[in-house]
Formats: sequence, structure tokens, C-alpha cells
Amino acid sequence: MTPSATQTLNDSELVSALDSTHDVVIREDATPVHAADRPDAAWWRHAVIYQIYPRSWADADGDGIGDLPGITSRLPHLRALGVDAIWLSPFYTSPQADAGYDVADYRDIDPIFGSLADADTMIARAHELGLKVIVDMVPNHSSDEHEWFKAALAAGPGSAERERYMFREGRGEHGELPPNNWESVFGGAAWTRVTEADGTPGQWYLHIFDTKQPDFNWEHPEVRAEFESILRFWLDRGVDGFRVDVAHGLIKEQGLPDTEEERTTMLGHAEHEHAEGEHVPAEEAPRIDHTKRSPMWDQDGVHEIYRAWRKILESYGTPDRILCAEAWVEPQERAVAYVRPDEMHQAFNFDFLTASWIAEDLRAVITSSLHAADSVGAPSTWVLSNHDVVRHASRLGYAPGTPRMNGISATDPQPDRALGLRRARAATALMLALPGGAYIYQGEELGLPDSTDMPAEFRQDPTFARTAGAETGRDGCRVPIPWSADGPSLGFGPSASTWLPQPDVYADYAVDRQEGVAGSTLELYRSLLAARRELSLGTGSLTWVLGYAADVVALTNGSSQHGRVLVVANLGAEPVALPEGAEVIVASGPLEAGLVPTDTTVWARWS
Ligand code: GLC
Repeated sequence: MTPSATQTLNDSELVSALDSTHDVVIREDATPVHAADRPDAAWWRHAVIYQIYPRSWADADGDGIGDLPGITSRLPHLRALGVDAIWLSPFYTSPQADAGYDVADYRDIDPIFGSLADADTMIARAHELGLKVIVDMVPNHSSDEHEWFKAALAAGPGSAERERYMFREGRGEHGELPPNNWESVFGGAAWTRVTEADGTPGQWYLHIFDTKQPDFNWEHPEVRAEFESILRFWLDRGVDGFRVDVAHGLIKEQGLPDTEEERTTMLGHAEHEHAEGEHVPAEEAPRIDHTKRSPMWDQDGVHEIYRAWRKILESYGTPDRILCAEAWVEPQERAVAYVRPDEMHQAFNFDFLTASWIAEDLRAVITSSLHAADSVGAPSTWVLSNHDVVRHASRLGYAPGTPRMNGISATDPQPDRALGLRRARAATALMLALPGGAYIYQGEELGLPDSTDMPAEFRQDPTFARTAGAETGRDGCRVPIPWSADGPSLGFGPSASTWLPQPDVYADYAVDRQEGVAGSTLELYRSLLAARRELSLGTGSLTWVLGYAADVVALTNGSSQHGRVLVVANLGAEPVALPEGAEVIVASGPLEAGLVPTDTTVWARWS
């Protein structure tokens, strides 16, 4: 074990853990949930991938928006952190109506982020540092400023140009009503009526997201050919894979029938949202009715698209280039269809991200995730935060079971920051002990909370305006990263300008406040990642451990190379003991008299 892997425990804590006289009688379940992977499994089956949100990671030119030269200059931070790869949210030419998820040119870089030469430099530097590079592909929709969409508007109804998007005549006597009842994920109708060249109101086009994000017609061979060519463009530049945006949305049900469902929001369905100030236990929230299939999502036709893409990636040989699906699909049996052997390599595990901080729920989601992934021979993945959800350090600062929120505003009940951080550290320590791949969102290695009191005038997420502020939106998790406690923009860039304001408390979380500080969240992440790598936990097995109270999540991760690692996450109020002889490797917080206190996760050797 490297010294860094034990850094979060001081000597006396370590000794007290070893000397614990509190005997616990625990044993492994007879049947493992998941068998170990091959020790030489392909890199993506166990990789830890760090998500960079380019607008907010590092700003080299001082315009207040992060950029590629900034990213390149900060990559050593990730080498020291110990991740395997980076995934960058979109950096393509874009009017930025949805922070770059509205692409006007898939083969170029937006000037706010730099140039293609900057992208080449960034990719080369990452590779030099041993980091693979995954870029975001946004195939469901383009920007309305994409050449194809501009041509479609100009060419008029019935033209070949309009066939590449989803144009339809309206309903009603004069076509004044949208073609069906679909609502945008960001609020409001999913259709916008255009004004034709002669100045009259004309056809409608579909946009599942913002008005400025027209959906492509994926039944059209030119759309398919274009994206296959775009994939090759980036593969030729050396990228190691693609995170595929809204992978479950590309094909719509034939005839575009009305939907019977509530509006889909970023986190599932609108009915799951909480009313302001109201905390309803999750179990009381209405369930999604899986017997009703949505005409907008998860149509069987999407799969042949990814089979074709997989072939393209495989033609580039080894090491594997990968596809990761962003597919908000339930139940898990349908979600894993995206990672069958001839489709994508990975899919985000949003069931894990949305699970409550309740031991029984975590056990259930870990078991079902591994079983579902194993049923198709894919690795499971694990994720707690990303650019679309409230950061887990804030989410976990509410009572377990509090319905998920689409952003937090100053008028909402505020999370308990200390509690949230404590639980976030324990949750991450649990996550990184699990076999499969894992995703880390920039800033979570600092324990960053969301900005929870951002004034309305700064908000940029289209959902805020489209719902007239009823939904706060995702800006709170997208605030520029604090690199240093002093200096303009907390080291984000050379000027004081930041595209979203940094809360005052962010100085306390700055990288330079945490680097080399025993017990800091940054050092905890480094220790966890070092130990995970050294012990090959990503390719290990998983077996539940029996004998603890129900509010303790206890498991072993085993393999022929590293033996058995015991993982104990205590979600209960009472401290719990480790079994005799267990040797602590790393802990998410200090042990108390050798016991694992509440909201703490410990990894230990256990022979
Ligand atoms: C995905 C992205 C999200 C974006 C949406 C539309 O869900 O993660 O940020 O707004 O797609 O492209």
C-alpha cells in the first residue's frame, strides 16, 4: 500500500482501528452478487472517468469562461488525482443556448473554447499524462444555427432539406396547433412554428429540448451518414471515445402519437418534482408507470444506430475506443440493452445516482445494477454527480428520501452543508469500491456544494426561463472551480470574471487549501483512487456481508490478485465495529475509538 492510501487516517486512529476489541460476528453471503472480471479486462471495464465541464474548469484567457488551453494547463491535477480518463462536455461551435449542447458545427471548436489546434494539443497532453480522452457527441438535435437547419428553413415545406429534421403541419383549422401534445424537457411545447419565406405562419418543428435545439430525423440516411463521418473526424484526431448525449431519444414512435405521460424533466418525470418547500419521502412520490411506453424515448430503432457506430470504433483497433450512453431509461433491463456486446460499452447508471441515502435502497440498486449489466456481459458504471443534477455534497445534505430537486434557490430549504459533505465522502468511498467503471464530476473531489443562492439574473439554464422560474435549473452545479483560495476568480482564470458567480464559501474548498492536507476531501479522493487501482477493485467481485444492522451497507470486493477487501458504509446512527483482524486501508472520515461512526465508509483488508 502506498503511503497516500492511508493518508486520511492518522496513526492513533489506525492503531485504535487495529486494536478494536468490539467483536462483530459477520460473514459473507454464500452467493456473490457479481464475479470478478478478468484481471486483464479492457480499460473501460474498470476505468474512473473524470467529467470536465469546459465552461467551468479553467479559464486561460480571462474572459470568464473556461477553455481548452485552460484545460491543458490543469491536466496534471488529474494525473495526481489518479483517474484514467476525461470526458469533456461539448466544446463545438455553438450559440451556447444550452451551454454547448446546441451544436452548430460538429467539426470545429467554438472560439470561446479555442481552436482545433488547441483541441489537438489538449488531446496530446492528456495522452502524454496517461489520460484517455472522451468527447461528447450530441446526435439527437443540432443548434438552429447549424447549416442544415438554416437550409431547411430557407428551402420551405416539402423540400429535401426539411426532411433531415422533424417538420410537420400543425393541427387545427389553420395549422395553428402543434402537431401533437409533446412537451419540451425544459418546459413549454416541444414544437415551434416557423414563419415561411412569404411571411406566413408555416410548419412546426420538433425540439425535445430548447427551441434552439431542433431534433434531427434519424430515419434519414443522410443524418446517419453525417454522424458516422463526424465520429471518424474525431477518432482520426485521436479521441478514445464518445459520451452519447440523449442516446435514448434519436428515434421517435412512428406517426408521432400524443403521449399519455407527464412531462419528462432532466430527472425523469415532472410528477417527481417537489412543490416548493415541501419534503415528501421518495416512497410517497408517484412511480413512473413502465407499462406506458413513451413515444419520445427508448424506441427499439435506436439500437441499430449504435451497432453501426460500434463497428466504426472497432475498425480503429486496440486499445478500444468507447461509447457511453446517456440514456435515462427505466427499468434497468431496458437500459442495459444499450450495452449489449455489439452496441455501446458503457451506460450511465442513473439509478445509482438517484438512489436515496438509505442502506436498503443502496443495496438494492447495487445488486440490480450488477445483475442487469452481467446479464449482457457489460460492466456496471457508477456515478453520483454530473452537470445536470444537484451535486451530491448538497443533495445528501437533506433528509434521506427528500425528492430530487432541479436546482436549489435561495428561497428553497437549504441543505446542511457539513452533513452533505460527510455523506458525500462516504457515498464516494462506497462508489469507488464497487466493481465496474465510475464517473467523477469536476469539483466533487473538492467536496464542492452547489451554489444554492444564485441571484436569478445570473441563471442561464433554459429551463429556468422556460418554466418562468418554477424550476431553478442546473446552473448551481456548473459554477467555475476554485483552484486557489486567493486571487481573482479563485484561480479559475487570470481575471476576476466568471460566467456564473462563485459563492463566497468556495474559497474554503479551493484546491490549494486541500492539497497535502491530511483528511481533506481532495486527499481522500487521491487515497481512494490509489487504493482502488492498487487493489484492482474495478475488476473485483462483490459479495454482501451479513451480520450488521440493516442500516449498514457491508460488502467484500475480492479477486485472486488482491484477496478480500471489506467495505463498511455505516448509514445508521450507532457506530459499528470492524471484525477482528480487519486492517483499515482508507476511511471517508476519522474512526471513533476504532469504530465506524455514522455516515462513514471504511475499506479494510480482511483475511
Ligand atoms: C443531456 C445533457 C444536458 C443537455 C441535454 C440536451 O441530457 O446532459 O446537459 O441539456 O442533453 O442536449
